[in-house]
Parts: sequence; C-alpha cells; structure tokens
Amino acid sequence: MQIKDQVTLVVGAASGIGAETARHFSSLDAKLILFDKNGKDCKALAKELKATSYEVDITVEAQIKNALDELTQSYGAPRILINCAGIAPARRIVGNKGVMPQAEFEQVIDTNLLGCFDVMRQIAGLMSKLDPLDEYQQRGVIINTASIAAFDGQAGQAAYAASKSAIAGLTLPAARDLAKYGIRVMAIAPGVMNTPMLAAMPEDVRKKLEIVVPFPKRLGVPREFATLAQHIVENDYLNGEVIRLDGALRMPHEV
Ligand SMILES: NC(=O)c1ccc[n+]([C@@H]2O[C@H](COP(=O)([O-])OP(=O)(O)OC[C@H]3O[C@@H](n4cnc5c(N)ncnc54)[C@H](O)[C@@H]3O)[C@@H](O)[C@H]2O)c1
Repeated sequence: MQIKDQVTLVVGAASGIGAETARHFSSLDAKLILFDKNGKDCKALAKELKATSYEVDITVEAQIKNALDELTQSYGAPRILINCAGIAPARRIVGNKGVMPQAEFEQVIDTNLLGCFDVMRQIAGLMSKLDPLDEYQQRGVIINTASIAAFDGQAGQAAYAASKSAIAGLTLPAARDLAKYGIRVMAIAPGVMNTPMLAAMPEDVRKKLEIVVPFPKRLGVPREFATLAQHIVENDYLNGEVIRLDGALRMPHEV
C-alpha cells in the first residue's frame, strides 16, 4: 500500500519509537493522526509535523472511541495503524520488595495487551467499511509492537513478556480474521532500542545490554523501527508475521 495521503494513526506517539515513526511517516506525506496519554508532548509533536493529536489513554475504551469518532468525521477512517504505546516496569515475582502485587501485573496487561487490542479492534471495524484500494480488495494495515521479551523475557519481565507474547500470538489469528476485509496485521518485535523507556534503566544495565548484541554492537534506534514499519506498509505480501528487529540479540536470563 502506498503511504502518501493515507490517514495514518500512530498510537504512543509522544515519545521514543512512536514519535520517530510519526516523524518518518510525516516525511512520507501520510495524513498523520497521533494518540498518546501524554497529551502535552503529543500535541507539541503534532504541531511540529502539522498533524492532529488526541489525548487518549488506551486503557479507557470510551476515550479511544470518542477520538476515533471525531477523527473519522474530519479525515475518514485510518488505513494505517501503528500501535506503539506501552509500558515496561521491571519486577520479579518474588524479589527484594516482596511478592509482586497482582495489580502491577494487571497494569502491564491492561496497557500492552488490552489497550493495544482495543485500538486494533475498533480501528479494524472502521477500516473494514472503507472502499478497497486495489483488485485484491486491500483496505488497511495494522502494525502492533511486540518485543523480543515475547520470546526470551528476562528475570523481572514476567508481566511485560506475558503482554508482548500475547501481541505476538494474536498476530496470525488477527490476520486470518481480517483477511476477509483486506486488512493485513503484522507485529514488530524490537530488541533493545535507545528510547526514553530504556533511559529509565540504570546506566550499567544499559551498557551490559549493548554488549550482548551480536551485531551491530549498539542499541537499536527508533528510526530502524520506523523504516521497517514503512516497508511493512509498502510490501503487500507481508501479513500475519512477527519480525524481530534486534541485531541477532537473544536475551540472557538476566543482565
Ligand atoms: N525501547 C525498547 O528497548 C523496546 C524494546 C522492545 C519493545 N518496545 C516497545 O516499543 C513501544 C514503544 O516503546 P518506547 O521505547 O518508545 O517507549 P516510550 O516510553 O519512549 O514511549 C511509550 C509511549 O507510550 C505512551 N503510553 C503508555 N501508556 C499509554 C496509554 N495507556 N495510553 C496511551 N499512551 C500510552 C507513553 O505516554 C509514551 O509516549 C512499547 O510498546 C514498548 O514496549 C520497546
């Protein structure tokens, strides 16, 4: 699918991977809409990119619906969804601070899995009613963000890994569900990317993570995610798959 002039929604656009993806798709002349619960930074980026922003917490179904109702009236339904919002608090099931509270596990699942799914579900409904673009009836593309923690989560990542492996796991059945409507579903599983999420980790942990990447021996950069997302949108034969973006990194059990 060509990107130019397509209504493109980037969720989690106020920071890191989402912000860089928004910048990249803006440079490709997408009609850009940005969602984030951090309304202030999202609005500032939208102003810079001449895009439209909505303050949306993806764990609140009505906030997603209201923003989608409003933007659909002005721009039409999105044909491209790039779901980047996520949180990654680390905590062991039993550790220095005692037993992990159930609420901490639930918060990660609420955002990374249920929130991501809710955005995808609501948008898929809207996309399914759009006119097809080509002889194969293509209507849209959905890209979710998993993580290599979906496959080799480290100590302290039980909640995060559970949420991201669910994103990886739903990719194929979602692609199969939506095939009838000409909607492709893909996921990108980044390794260790240099973003504010990672900056929250102690410096020595970040250095250790960098060293274990086989090649190139550095952290990934958000632009590498953004250009992969571009390729996924443009390559119509990519569907139902999770692509690792990790310099061949396989996480050790802890760093
Ligand atoms: N940075 C990494 O190393 C890495 C590795 C693998 C996967 N990922 C995934 O990539 C995605 C982006 O991560 P990042 O590193 O850019 O993080 P980030 O913290 O820089 O950005 C995440 C964005 O998501 C937004 N967000 C969080 N909860 C939200 C909610 N409930 N509703 C709406 N917006 C919400 C935040 O406000 C923030 O702007 C996440 O899904 C993350 O799990 C990151």
